[in-house]
Parts: sequence; structure tokens; C-alpha cells
Amino acid sequence: MSLDANAMKKLVAEEAVNRYVKDGMKVGLGTGSTAKFMIERIGELVRQGYDLTCTATSVQSEELAKSLGIKVVDLDEIDHLDITIDGADEVDPGMQLIKGLGGALLREKIVAAATVKEIIITDESKLVEKLGTKAPLPVEVLQFGHEHTKYALERQGCKAELRMRDGKPFITDTGNYIYDCRFESIEKPFFLESRIDIIPGVVENGLFLNTAYDVLIARPDGSVESMAEKLASKEA
Ligand code: A5P
Repeated sequence: MSLDANAMKKLVAEEAVNRYVKDGMKVGLGTGSTAKFMIERIGELVRQGYDLTCTATSVQSEELAKSLGIKVVDLDEIDHLDITIDGADEVDPGMQLIKGLGGALLREKIVAAATVKEIIITDESKLVEKLGTKAPLPVEVLQFGHEHTKYALERQGCKAELRMRDGKPFITDTGNYIYDCRFESIEKPFFLESRIDIIPGVVENGLFLNTAYDVLIARPDGSVESMAEKLASKEA
């Protein structure tokens, strides 16, 4: 068996829901093409009678969830989330992540911070030895003075490109721009994050460090691997 990219996304999304979502939970809904399959599986559970209260990391995910009959509330209506299931753009061997190629990194990070267990669903194409080697690092910035923010970002050693859509700057759900920052590789992610976060005009960066409780990885042979289990068995 050799699954194609879409089949791997569906496989890992359904495995994450089956493994981690229990009746009565408060669930954060991620964003992206892998998360879409997860929302569809949650919709099936709701139709089976599960009582789930969900909050969404993007307008797109919220609309999909509501169309499937899932109860979606504002994050501020609940005190925490038991679980959030979301995709990622890069995953390093220590479960550190880059997210935000789908443009939802700000809400994704706020939701992740309110979550007990953040579960990342991905396939092996997202695995890297060092962050920044395949994907750019998305950084959400205020529109005001964004060229100045860009220069400050580039002083951290990257080439920063304003994300465009249909010939115009891409605007996030919260009304900001995104710069995609290409590094050769990110050698010290924690240090870089601390440097980026103090730049005036930066709203949020796409480094999700020490955020994942588990990363599930779909393989073309139809298997799904848990990085958390693998790391725990190495330590034992
Ligand atoms: C959305 O902003 C991102 O963080 C997504 O989670 C990420 O881009 C993964 O998306 P795919 O599942 O479509 O690759």
C-alpha cells in the first residue's frame, strides 16, 4: 500500500480524533488541509451523539464546523480546552514546530496556549532535522509601518517576503499582514523567537516551541506514528 498525500492527511486526522477526543470534551479546531479532515471526523462524532464544545482557529474552520452541526463557541466563553488538533508546516525531532503557512498562526497560538493537550497531525513530508530548512517562518505584523518591521526581521538573518494573494497583500482573520521569513536554517529557535517578539510591529511568530503534547505522523504504508511515544521509549 502507498497512500497519496490526501489519504495520509485523512488517515492521521481520523487517528488523532479516535485516539484523543472523548465525549464531553472542549476541543480546539485547527486550520488547514489536514485539519479539515479532523473537523469532518468530529462532525461524525457529533452526529453519533457526542457532546463536544469546540472553538476554531480560523473563520474557515469555524464555517466548516458549523456547516457540520458542530457547536462552536468563542474562546472566551470557555476557561480552557482539553485538546486541540492542528496541522503544522515543519516538525523537528524534538516536536518543535513551524506553523502558519495557512495564515492562522495568531489564533492558533492563542488557542494552543489555552489548551491542555495540543495534538499535531502531519505526514512525513513535514519532518525536518532543523526548523526553517523547508518552510519559511511566517510572522504576522501590523499593517502600520510594516516595511520597517520587515527590515527589523531581516536583521535576524532572513529574507522576508510580504505574503500576497490575488495581487494584493494577504490579510489575516485579525486584519494583519504576514511576512514569510526564509532562513537557511533556524539554529537557535528559542533565541530567535525572543529576538522576533521584541520587534515593534510584530504581532506573533510561527514558531510553536514546547507546544505539542504529541505529533502524529502518517506514513505512506498506512501506519501512524506517535512522536511522543517514540521520544518516551528512547528515554526509558
Ligand atoms: C495554518 O495557519 C497552519 O498553521 C496549518 O496548520 C499548517 O499550514 C498546516 O496546513 P496543512 O495541513 O494544509 O499542510
